[in-house]
Amino acid sequence: QNERESLFITLNFAKDHFVENLWEVEEGKNIGLTYFKERGFSEETIKSFELGYALDQWQGLMDAAAKNGYNEEFLEKAGLKIVKEDKAYDRFRGRVTFPIHNVTGKVIAFGARTLKSNEKGPKYINSPETELYTKSKILYGIYQAKNEIRNTSNCYLVEGYTDVISLYQAGIKNVVASSGTSLTEDQIKLIKRYSENVTALFDGDKAGIKASMRGIDMMLAGGLNVKAVRFPEGEDPDSYSRQLGGTAFKEYLDDHSQDFMSFKTDFYTSESNDPIKRAESIREIVQSISLIPDPIKRSVYTQQCSNMLGIDEGTLIVELNKLLIKENKSKY
Ligand code: GTP
Ligand code: MN
Ligand code: MN
Ligand code: MN
Ligand code: MN
Repeated sequence: QNERESLFITLNFAKDHFVENLWEVEEGKNIGLTYFKERGFSEETIKSFELGYALDQWQGLMDAAAKNGYNEEFLEKAGLKIVKEDKAYDRFRGRVTFPIHNVTGKVIAFGARTLKSNEKGPKYINSPETELYTKSKILYGIYQAKNEIRNTSNCYLVEGYTDVISLYQAGIKNVVASSGTSLTEDQIKLIKRYSENVTALFDGDKAGIKASMRGIDMMLAGGLNVKAVRFPEGEDPDSYSRQLGGTAFKEYLDDHSQDFMSFKTDFYTSESNDPIKRAESIREIVQSISLIPDPIKRSVYTQQCSNMLGIDEGTLIVELNKLLIKENKSKY
């Protein structure tokens, strides 16, 4: 039995332990299960994602693991135990737990959310990188979503754990999250295993929209066809799907999915009519077009950009070619 296998087994034990806390231990039921239900998660959903609860104790998991004959060394290597000087304690305490599965459905890490709204510490904490978990290579929800991504030829990309879960519950099962990190090339490759089409659903706040611009460029450069949806200020896919209900939310997505060009154009040109700002925004859009690997798609988008923004296409092509030379791509 190699070390990786031992880590998988240890993480699976931890997941079962947290699930048991949630459904069978008073503290877990009163605090954790109540929290999930108040967020509108059904029992079926909670079970599908194997959500759980880490007791508010220093060594709740460690003690359970010891009692069941698990090696302490693997708890630490799995990222579940923190060792500091001569003290050792559980990483996750008094939080609801979201296991992170690899594509084959094995638990490789956890995210965990505090239940206190006024706590000084972080809202979410996550497992550290381990032999099994490299956060830049995984997307939350990919195991539950992969077949549906393939079947629908589209992947919804959201920011958070709870966005994935709420959409899944609303019947939108082709959804994954980058979980707080900005999107990476490996995550884009992971999506491409199942579909070339992505619809980005980022939070309707400044940070979310800025993140979506960077993320969109990364995905374009990765050869994905990118659409995006804007949400009202202050809403994220989780909150908005609950506000609208599943059916109306799906309609909202269908009605508001814009290809990346319109999305970016709307974003930049709604900011201001100042000619200098407009010129800057056009440059941003041309920059995005230059990242697309396929020359035919580039050409189509250049035409569209010209039409939408009322800029001479020849001028756009000159600018595009400058960028393409810099990026060592064939010219327009
Ligand atoms: P809820 O408040 O539970 O609805 O969470 P959210 O998913 O809407 O959170 P938010 O939009 O603030 O952040 C999106 C994602 O970033 C979360 O799902 C987490 O994966 C991650 N994240 C948010 N806050 C923190 C934090 O304090 N620390 C870390 N490590 N990750 C965070
Ligand atoms: Mn945040
Ligand atoms: Mn956010
Ligand atoms: Mn959010
Ligand atoms: Mn949220």
